[in-house]
Amino acid sequence: MAVSNNTAGFSKVIVVGVGPAGLLLSLLLAKRGIPVTMLEMADKLDEKPRATHYGPPAMYELNRAGVGDEVRAKGFVPRVVCWRKIDGTMLAGIDGSVLDGDPDRMVCLPLNKLGAILYEHVTKEPTAKILFKHNVIAIGQDDDKAWVDVLSPDGESRMEADYIIGCDGANSQIRRSLFGDKNFPGRTWDEQIVATNTYYDFTKFGYEDANFIIHPEHWYMASRISNDGLWRVSYGELPGLSPEELVARQPMKFKTMLPGNPEPSDYKIASISPYKIHQRLAEKMRVGRFLLAADSAHLCNPFGGLGLTGGIVDVGGLYDCLVGIYDGVATPDILDIYSDVRREKYTNIIDPLSSENIRRLFAQDPEKALETDEFLKLCQRTATDVEFSKEFQTGINFLKYDFAKHYSNATGAKDAAVGGHGFSSSGLAAAVGVTD
Ligand SMILES: Cc1cc2nc3c(=O)[nH]c(=O)nc-3n(C[C@H](O)[C@H](O)[C@H](O)COP(=O)(O)OP(=O)(O)OC[C@H]3O[C@@H](n4cnc5c(N)ncnc54)[C@H](O)[C@@H]3O)c2cc1C
Ligand SMILES: *[C@@H]1O[C@H](CO)[C@@H](O)[C@H](O)[C@H]1NC(C)=O
Repeated sequence: MAVSNNTAGFSKVIVVGVGPAGLLLSLLLAKRGIPVTMLEMADKLDEKPRATHYGPPAMYELNRAGVGDEVRAKGFVPRVVCWRKIDGTMLAGIDGSVLDGDPDRMVCLPLNKLGAILYEHVTKEPTAKILFKHNVIAIGQDDDKAWVDVLSPDGESRMEADYIIGCDGANSQIRRSLFGDKNFPGRTWDEQIVATNTYYDFTKFGYEDANFIIHPEHWYMASRISNDGLWRVSYGELPGLSPEELVARQPMKFKTMLPGNPEPSDYKIASISPYKIHQRLAEKMRVGRFLLAADSAHLCNPFGGLGLTGGIVDVGGLYDCLVGIYDGVATPDILDIYSDVRREKYTNIIDPLSSENIRRLFAQDPEKALETDEFLKLCQRTATDVEFSKEFQTGINFLKYDFAKHYSNATGAKDAAVGGHGFSSSGLAAAVGVTD
């Protein structure tokens, strides 16, 4: 199969990984008429309990892809997010209803349902093709094309494209092939977490839509994730335990930490998954014709829901870069800007903010938190200052970046030329509450 570099920029893209990032990127490209082939090693979409909350910059992209209304309709818009002591005492909260009417406000919908929506939309696009049971095992590229070697039920084959995007998650084969199996700079937390989906009536105890409990040992998050009583309960655990030991400790943890000190007969667990948690960022998000987006490029702990939110913002930016090249208004150099900007956003926003979010739960004395935790003080301020509350809750929009300003047809394109893409994150600290 020959791939020609026509004047339209390029002719074909391969996306590796049919998770939320791969599906969204493919949907955006296919809606633009760009041929895209998706390769997924599994035989269906993933069902594990992972992302549930998508912040404003992610909703912006989901709206742009034409799925925002459906995501909102199948999910819901959370009201109050708050921080509590383990006895239930509320320390501070943020009321999301000040953003009512904002099409980009945060939505809660479990990841498997988001995946199903994206999947349904992408299968309607004539230029998109999904191949399940296609496992990418090796990669290569030259001046004219990139390729992946794929293992499928039909045997091994080579598939080529102009650009190949690794949306293949935390264990990305594309990243490992580019940089080495062990090369994913960053760190792993000593603390590990257990994520459950649980039916239990937290509302009976006055719990809000999202509750973060500050405690040195029994820290956790309880967050409503459906309209029929399903909650995500994610809690911290001791290091060094096996998955079986973690699961065995769950009834003790729930009895100790949840309001009402429930016995197993008082709740129903729909799923339970232990996770090791990491803060990691790939060396680059572009190497020639290969690109990385979302978890393949960066990981963070899940508190605050910045993982996929950041990944979705990558995808929107990468889409704009690829469309620019396809339409002949950008050179492939724009992909280096993509790599630099998205890596800077991780380093300056996602990594510090998500690290603060988890440390807030276990690394401070809940009795002193209101005196010493600047973030909680800002949350308190939102209760009396609506304008500040709006600014505070949309501060995470600093993750966005408009790559179209680097198009040759953009107004002021010269100023925005390659090399001039530095951005200021001053003001960010105030807006999103990074306090260190
Ligand atoms: C408990 C928990 C809670 C979370 N909560 C939130 C939240 O509220 N908000 C938020 O924004 N984020 C959250 N996250 C993070 C979020 O779930 C991830 O960022 C997101 O799922 C990553 O999506 P992805 O498409 O990059 O990768 P994945 O969903 O991991 O998809 C990668 C796909 O690539 C496939 N693949 C891998 N290797 C190959 C190969 N060699 N060949 C072919 N296919 C391959 C895999 O089978 C998989 O289908 C949470 C994570 C956890 C663990
Ligand atoms: C520049 O090109 C892009 C991509 O083709 C197009 O969407 C956009 O409208 C153009 N902008 C201007 C100002 O012409």
